[in-house]
Order: sequence, then structure tokens, then C-alpha cells
Amino acid sequence: MKIEDVFENNKAWIQKKLNYNKDYFKDLAKGQNPEFLYIGCSDSRVTAEDIMGVQPGEVFVHRNIANLVNNVDLNVMSVINYSVRHLKVNHVVVCGHYYCGGVKAAMQAKDLGILNPWLRNIRDVFRIHKDELNAIKDEDARYNRLIELNVQEQCVNLIKTAAIQEAHKERGLLVHGWVFDVQSGELIDLKINFSRILNDIMEIYRLE
Ligand code: CO
Repeated sequence: MKIEDVFENNKAWIQKKLNYNKDYFKDLAKGQNPEFLYIGCSDSRVTAEDIMGVQPGEVFVHRNIANLVNNVDLNVMSVINYSVRHLKVNHVVVCGHYYCGGVKAAMQAKDLGILNPWLRNIRDVFRIHKDELNAIKDEDARYNRLIELNVQEQCVNLIKTAAIQEAHKERGLLVHGWVFDVQSGELIDLKINFSRILNDIMEIYRLE
């Protein structure tokens, strides 16, 4: 695709929206009231709005390599605080995907420069779950399972934050872990048990 095509596509998109509603952009400019915060991978194949079937204004999005929720990442922490405390989203989603290059890179015994500290978060997930993962003989199945466990651990990281604990108590905000299967297009719900994780971690991570 050529860069000029982007602007042609944009014009066509504007026309499509206006045909559907002549005040579409006037309405959009009034503000946002999304129900979801979506934290996903930067991978170009995993587009939040497309796979969820949502329109502009419906989902607040943050993407990074391997959908990590790292407590010293000012970017993701700002996104969580703003969307939970100010936009009042009621669902926070971590969406990973099979064939994730970030997770694969973390599993290589190689110096990857600035990516080392970032991908270390995934190596830590492997360490926490190494008994389960090492018991899986098939390499692809082990890789897929690590992708699921990474999503689960990032959900745990979300539940460790004061903003999430407070919103859960106040209005029943929930955290969800999903995996997008690139090969079938299917979105898989890992059925994260919020209350159980909260109970498990409260001894140390209670902030509210
Ligand atoms: Co990825």
C-alpha cells in the first residue's frame, strides 16, 4: 500500500460515516464514554476495533509489545488510571494473541538490547509457571500456553493496582483475559476469575 492511498482511504471513510449520519463527526467531537479499556499487542494483525466489532468512541486502547502491564511503565499506568478513574470504563481487557513475536523473542537465549528489560517480564511469567510449561513436550503447545499465561499474569498485574481495586469495589469493574487466534480469527475468553485472584493477592497487594 502506498502512503498516498491513506488519504484517499480517509476521504472515502469520512463519506461513509456521513452517509450513515450527517452529524457523525459533530457527535464524535462531543466527547468519549467508552465502556472498555483494551490492552493488546502492537502486532499489526491484531486490531482491537476490528476484532471486537466496535466503533470509534467505544474502546480506549493501549498497545505495546506482548501486551504487558508493567508497574513501572508510566505509559500503561497512565492509561489505566485515566480510563478507570476519569472515563469510568467498566471492563478492562488484556488481549494476547497466538504467534506473538514478543513472547517468542523472550524465549530465545539471546541479547536483544533495549528489548531485554521489556521481555524480561515474559521470562518472569515463564519462571512463575515453569513446572506447567516444562511439562508440555510439544514446542508449539508450550508457546501457546505461555501466551495464555502471559495474559493471565498481566491481568494479575492489573488487579494489583489501586485504581482497579477501587473501581471493582465501587462499581464492580471487571478484568478480562482474552487471546486472539490469528489462524482462525477467533477471540478466546480465558475466563479470568477476578475475585479469586483478588483474594489470592490481597495479603500483599491490598491498596484500598
Ligand atoms: Co504480539
